[in-house]
Amino acid sequence: MSRLLVCPPDFFGIEYEINPWMRLSNRVDHERAASQWQTLMGIFEQDLGIVLERMVPIPGLPDLVFTANAGLVVGHTAVVSHFRYPERQREEAHFEHWFRQQGYEVMTVEAGLHFEGAGDLLGFSDTWFGGYRQRSDIGMYPILSERFQREIIPLELIDGRFYHLDTCLCPLSGGELLYFPAAFDHDGREVLAARIPTERHLVVPEHEALKFACNAVCVEKHVVLPAGCPTTEGLLQERGYDTHAVQLDEFMKSGGSAKCLTLALD
Ligand code: ARG
Repeated sequence: MSRLLVCPPDFFGIEYEINPWMRLSNRVDHERAASQWQTLMGIFEQDLGIVLERMVPIPGLPDLVFTANAGLVVGHTAVVSHFRYPERQREEAHFEHWFRQQGYEVMTVEAGLHFEGAGDLLGFSDTWFGGYRQRSDIGMYPILSERFQREIIPLELIDGRFYHLDTCLCPLSGGELLYFPAAFDHDGREVLAARIPTERHLVVPEHEALKFACNAVCVEKHVVLPAGCPTTEGLLQERGYDTHAVQLDEFMKSGGSAKCLTLALD
């Protein structure tokens, strides 16, 4: 049984610009956003049997919906994010409060470093990947590797449109890797080729990467991903995954999609 942390989009909107997707002039249709979010939650709860923990939304924190950035949960420990941009630093205390209230042992980020949680750190059970340069700092990964006794492979993100690792890479439950290679530098692509047999690489075409195809949630043999990515769905289905596509374009106005709207709690 999987549990995910989510936050209803009551106060979601574009109130600042901190990534290339966000345009203040691009207004969010609130009703549409709410109904897209409800559809996504319905898939998680009804189709996949996932337990959802809902945070209380807070006025003035339009990006709180993107709970992938709350932190990183490993067992009973929660590493609370420290965001790069002050606009999102205001969310930190709320995420920390939620973790403490739930009884997690809270770990905070060392002074001078930034870390944006499960948006930048994801992987398979033994090997994790850590995105850096756009938001999180590479200096976090040796610390987290030591703390959790896992190998963390740092991956530099070179394209501002793919500013969190979960926008361009998604490890799948069967050991395959869904990703968009051009978001990584040469070394990153080499290390992925060296560590994951190439027959397990599911390469997303650029036009679907730009629809956030990699921002997918994989639970056992199910993959929930944004609508408009038929090639990616085909790649997944060939490997035996059931795909669930959801229209989430209101959230793309903020640079986020299915995976960003969730935080894995176990
Ligand atoms: N507007 C948010 C930001 O720029 C979107 C966050 C998306 N989250 C993610 N895990 N990729 O921070």
